[in-house]
Amino acid sequence: MEIHTNIPLKNYTTMRLGGNARFMAEAHTPEDIAALSRNSKKQGLPIFILGGGSNIIAHDEGFSGLVVRNRIPGFEILEDDASHTIVRIGAGENWDDIVKRTVEMNLTGIEAMSAIPGTAGAAPIQNVGAYGQEIADTLVSLEAYDNITDSFVVLQNQDCAFSYRHSIFRGEASGRYTVTSITLQLYKAPPQPPFYKAIEDYFTTNGITMFTPQIIRDAVINIRTEKLPDPKITPNTGSFFKNALIEDWQLNELKKKYPDIPSYDMPDGKFKIPTGWLIEQTGLKGKTLHGMRIHDKNALVLINASATSYQELAAARDEISSAVRDQFRITIEQEPLEI
Ligand code: EPU
Repeated sequence: MEIHTNIPLKNYTTMRLGGNARFMAEAHTPEDIAALSRNSKKQGLPIFILGGGSNIIAHDEGFSGLVVRNRIPGFEILEDDASHTIVRIGAGENWDDIVKRTVEMNLTGIEAMSAIPGTAGAAPIQNVGAYGQEIADTLVSLEAYDNITDSFVVLQNQDCAFSYRHSIFRGEASGRYTVTSITLQLYKAPPQPPFYKAIEDYFTTNGITMFTPQIIRDAVINIRTEKLPDPKITPNTGSFFKNALIEDWQLNELKKKYPDIPSYDMPDGKFKIPTGWLIEQTGLKGKTLHGMRIHDKNALVLINASATSYQELAAARDEISSAVRDQFRITIEQEPLEI
């Protein structure tokens, strides 16, 4: 395994910011992950596992340890019967290649998560979700390297404690596990309505009345192309903030002043408020702060228009959060993780 030194993280993160990684290596097998983890532990070096870099913000001072790019491949059918297929996917596979492949097999379960940048192994970390599906709905288990016990483990779905854009990997077990593969259960029955509102609207507009995984995938790709900038062309990390979760009394208070506030019921009695709507109400949509532009088609997305430092991004983020807090008394949270 080759170890490279002083590698600019901005070339490996889609926001295109940040200093250098002191060391960088690529892992192509689970054994590579184990060897790199053990070695960096021995040398007292911090380690950070990078997937596609599409949900990571790098700091200006860079990372003084080892960044490992997870490139572990794999697509293996473990079980296949009349109703479902169980497939094991290498953590380094490109997520959308996998979605495309399962859709071509006419399987349902992840088709609405089409065109999301990043790798398969990163999907469980933040419980990736879009257009009515999240990885928690189809993930059976995952294999990971546990760098505390220095061994490979299998974590079942319930071990991951998934909730909205959250899991143990962003919480109590942050930094402990490196995902090496994910196992998904996908279904042969066609996708069933009702679909996410944006998809329903798309079907109505286009007169679509038959639903297959491919039809859902095509709809999602068209909707996303319209609302989300392509990170290959325009530096961004998708949604920069999480949607806000508030209590019912807070929603009742807000409704007095903002009767049109959109809200969605959550399973735990809370309500999800679209942060894009909150930001739009502050008047910041389409504006540029410190070189960061609030996307004019979706205020949840921050585009790096001309920022050259994490500091500029942080200044823009803090101004946006303050504007939302001042107007709504809601504290919004950043979605991408930081290195
Ligand atoms: N809205 C506005 N103004 C805006 C943006 C949104 O008013 O500028 C309101 C509208 O009421 C709209 C609602 O927000 O109906 C929801 O918007 P949308 O369906 O576009 O979804 P979102 O809440 O902006 C979330 C995910 C996206 C995912 C979409 C579709 C989060 C943080 N983001 O966005 O995920 O694609 O739903 O399911 O939950 C990502 O995580 O990077 C991501 C793109």
